[in-house]
Amino acid sequence: MRHIVGTQQFTPEFIERMYHRTVEFKKGSHLSKANEHCKGRILGSLFYEPSTRTRWSFDVAAIKLGMHVVFSDNAKDFSSAIKGEVLSDTIRVLGGFMLDVMVIRHSDEGSAQEAADLNVVPIINGGDGIGQHPTQALLDAFTVIEKKGRLDHLTFVIGGDLARGRTVRSLAYLIGKYPGNRIIGVAPPEMGMRADIKDYLLRHNVPYQETDQVEDALQQADVVYWTRPQNERALPGGIKIDASRMVEIMYHFMLGSAHLAVMKKDAILLHPLPRTFEIRKEVDLDPRAWFIQQSHNGPPLRMSILEYVCAG
Ligand code: NCD
Repeated sequence: MRHIVGTQQFTPEFIERMYHRTVEFKKGSHLSKANEHCKGRILGSLFYEPSTRTRWSFDVAAIKLGMHVVFSDNAKDFSSAIKGEVLSDTIRVLGGFMLDVMVIRHSDEGSAQEAADLNVVPIINGGDGIGQHPTQALLDAFTVIEKKGRLDHLTFVIGGDLARGRTVRSLAYLIGKYPGNRIIGVAPPEMGMRADIKDYLLRHNVPYQETDQVEDALQQADVVYWTRPQNERALPGGIKIDASRMVEIMYHFMLGSAHLAVMKKDAILLHPLPRTFEIRKEVDLDPRAWFIQQSHNGPPLRMSILEYVCAG
């Protein structure tokens, strides 16, 4: 059974395979081969947390592949969770409903692993709290390769809420699999990268430094990956940020035209979206602002993932 839980599990060969498959799906070719594995199969989407693009892009991907979709949105309130059912029971029950694959988004870090360990249905992690979001990272990696031609020997500037952002964590694991990369984390001290990722990067010889000097970092970037403060979640260690400090952070980390002016001419600006205030609208017309196109890689990338899982 093929589970997609976290980006540590991917090899560069797998990432390359997903890249080539996604290129084909973007072109609209090779659908018949995909249908062999996917046609008529059932994707279950179990979402305990809000989602727009992840839900939609999995749905669109499944439909393109000839699959059927059943779903629970807002499963926190509209599933048996409200009656006190534990996640493992829900997965054991729904997983036995003749599903072929299940995408799950849940607020608890580790929930996707817990679901996968039951081994009743292939699980795709659509985001587990402050844990990981592996399919987002694959689409981020796809976009970097598409724009920069490679995933090695690049300087990544990853900014925003590095403590609670699951996309930056998943991306950091991927970056660590390629030679010559370095990461500059840009975050307020309260939202710095957690130790597990920093230890991983150290073990994989990826230089990592963290700063709150936005412009200094941006000047060095080949890829800027910016994120929003995940204020709907608690900070690790129960740290509290009061309202006035939050406003200070907001202004300090808000990218505008002046920031784009210091960036390299061939850098790209990515964001997993949704954006809030952290990238001003004035930036959108700059050709380096690539986050909307990045989001459009979601459906074809998820077609590649579904095909891989269904073929298992
Ligand atoms: C991200 C997520 O849910 O982690 N969104 C997404 O899936 N593209 C990022 C976010 O919510 O900030």
